Amino acid sequence: TIEFKVDSVLNLMTLQEKVGQLNQLNAGDVTGPSDEKNRNILEEIRSGKLGSLLNVRGAKITNELQQEAMKSRLKIPLIFGQDVIHGYRVIFPIPLAEAASWDLDEIKLSARVSAREASSSGINWTFAPMVDIARDPRWGRVMEGAGEDPYLGSAIARARVQGFQGTGLGDLNAVMACAKHFAAYGAAIAGRDYNAVDMSKRQLWEVYLPPFKAALDAGAATFMNSFNSLNGTPATGNSYLQRDILKGAWGFKGFVVSDWDSIKEMVAHGYAKDLKEAAQMAIAAGNDMDMESKAYDNNLANLVKEGKVNIDQVNEAVKRILTKKFELGLFDNPYRFSDEKREKLELNSSANKASSREVAKKSIVLLKNETGILPLSKSTKTIALIGPLVKANQDMRGFWALSWGKDDIPVSLYEGVKNKLGNSTNILYSKGCNTNDSIKRDFTEAIATAMKADVVVMAIGETFDMSGEAKSKADIHIPGMQEELVKAIVKTGKPLVVLVMGGRPLVFNYTATNVKSILFTWFLGSQAGDAMADVLFGDYNPAGKLPITFPKSLGQIPIYYAQTNTGRPFEEGKSPNYRSVYLDISNSPQYAFGHGLSYTTFKYSNLKLDKAEIALNDTIKVSVEITNSGKYSGEEVVQLYIKDKVAQPVRPILELKDFQKIKLKPGETKKLIFYIEKEKLSFYNDDLKWITQPGDFEVMIGSSSDDIRLKSDFVLKE
Ligand code: IFM
Repeated sequence: TIEFKVDSVLNLMTLQEKVGQLNQLNAGDVTGPSDEKNRNILEEIRSGKLGSLLNVRGAKITNELQQEAMKSRLKIPLIFGQDVIHGYRVIFPIPLAEAASWDLDEIKLSARVSAREASSSGINWTFAPMVDIARDPRWGRVMEGAGEDPYLGSAIARARVQGFQGTGLGDLNAVMACAKHFAAYGAAIAGRDYNAVDMSKRQLWEVYLPPFKAALDAGAATFMNSFNSLNGTPATGNSYLQRDILKGAWGFKGFVVSDWDSIKEMVAHGYAKDLKEAAQMAIAAGNDMDMESKAYDNNLANLVKEGKVNIDQVNEAVKRILTKKFELGLFDNPYRFSDEKREKLELNSSANKASSREVAKKSIVLLKNETGILPLSKSTKTIALIGPLVKANQDMRGFWALSWGKDDIPVSLYEGVKNKLGNSTNILYSKGCNTNDSIKRDFTEAIATAMKADVVVMAIGETFDMSGEAKSKADIHIPGMQEELVKAIVKTGKPLVVLVMGGRPLVFNYTATNVKSILFTWFLGSQAGDAMADVLFGDYNPAGKLPITFPKSLGQIPIYYAQTNTGRPFEEGKSPNYRSVYLDISNSPQYAFGHGLSYTTFKYSNLKLDKAEIALNDTIKVSVEITNSGKYSGEEVVQLYIKDKVAQPVRPILELKDFQKIKLKPGETKKLIFYIEKEKLSFYNDDLKWITQPGDFEVMIGSSSDDIRLKSDFVLKE
């Protein structure tokens, strides 16, 4: 058995070799603060002082590095980790965009293709998925997760882990997944990256932990802890998180890697007095591998000799890592992932590009289409493409695209429209302004360009480097003079469609109010422009739904749909005096969680519950009919929300508990069945017990969290 093999290797190891297995260093792209120069990586490998490298890739180089590992005394193979976040060579939409597809098969496919490409290039471990719930769009890393909701976030976490790990770690096309960042990194105070987190344990268990549990249940081989402190204890040194919950209550058998330098950063937190104490705290708290900080490398052996760290803790960490190396098949063949022939066939293949385009189309959200300008006719005579992001191609990758080939330039909107229309349409272009001009520009040329066209398509928003790690923003309005440019084009009276691009929810109230057709197109990856053109010209009917709330005002943040009620809720049509409202703005967001339109319309009818009362261990069968009442074939994400009307503690005003994505032809009706069982009615009480309270509930079926079409009450009996 693997356990036996691991023990036999462990028995041969010196203390220094054990510590070596816990040491991970960067040897490629720098994805954190680094002042390290002149590292002799090869020497470290040969002397058994390294267990893993990050950010090196390529079949050839990983093969060569593995050969060095085979020169070490015990010939323990290295594992190669990298942030394969949304694609490897072929870039897929940023994770938040993919989440907007609510399409678990497509999300899985994206991870699968990424794993195939990365594994052919010698990578056997991705630092993904990021499953942090994020409810503050100022935080730049909202782009990397699945948004604000624990139910949707958990479903997506599962899909991503399954996609990355395929049929399991022996699979040559699989990479180990890494659920990160454990835990609550997305709740950084004020949305400022790396900031402290302070939250009730009930909130932690109910909102922030479920996607991690889902990733674990789907078999995630590894976890990464996080930079933040949680209620006063840095996550890296947090044994409540890592020992009590993850390795204890949840029975996690894989290993935990620190984040980049996060062991060392416990000193900056003011939690450990020096690197040595930080190492002692981290290993005690269940952090197995040290990424970059050399805290273990420099101190762990001495700490053991001094009796400050129990050797059992070191042995446990080493065993967890060796187990994964065995499961990956690296002890049998350390070179199995580094196959130049396979790499050549796999990377950037046309099949992979086609998958990226598929996922990209599905990620686009139609925010508004008031007069039905969309889809545009392919026989439009003259079309004007205006805005600073029309020709942006590099930006289409989004943040965290590390391994694209220098020649694989993503398709811009401009190119996508050209590819779609060929020479039959006259395509005009004006940049209008930059993304971040600080003074108003002369829009004469842009206006003149618009005036010559039958229809104008604008592309505005953020550049790729305005969201991502360390990209928090205090102001999430569309930057610069871009909305001024929109204003100038609106004034021309030309039919106008605006595409907004970005890695986070943005505020663009002028556009939202004055432009009739708006698409949110995120950063869609290698095939972005073609996917946008598919949607613009109706070859694909958009079906994306926002996985995160878009505020109207910065002052509303944090804003999310599953808020709890107050004692003085505002009621439409009644006086706001002495109610929980703002004087200057309504409580409602610009676009709610779950919002997203289609070129067709859907009618919801015949909501039926098979019983109005259920016992605790019973299940309610809910049926509803959805009809495509418009002209186009289309997909709809039918969302099921539940409200627990009276409970202790107070419950959210509604919570997503299920959804189904369906495809309907015009006039077609489908009956959907949902089941409500005890699990969907349960929650944590103040003692962190998972409980179910009998009483009155409401089930709501809708097209978004603020577009509930049908509802019905039921009672949960004692
Ligand atoms: O995986 C990342 C992590 O999400 C943030 N810090 C750096 C790591 C490795 O690149």
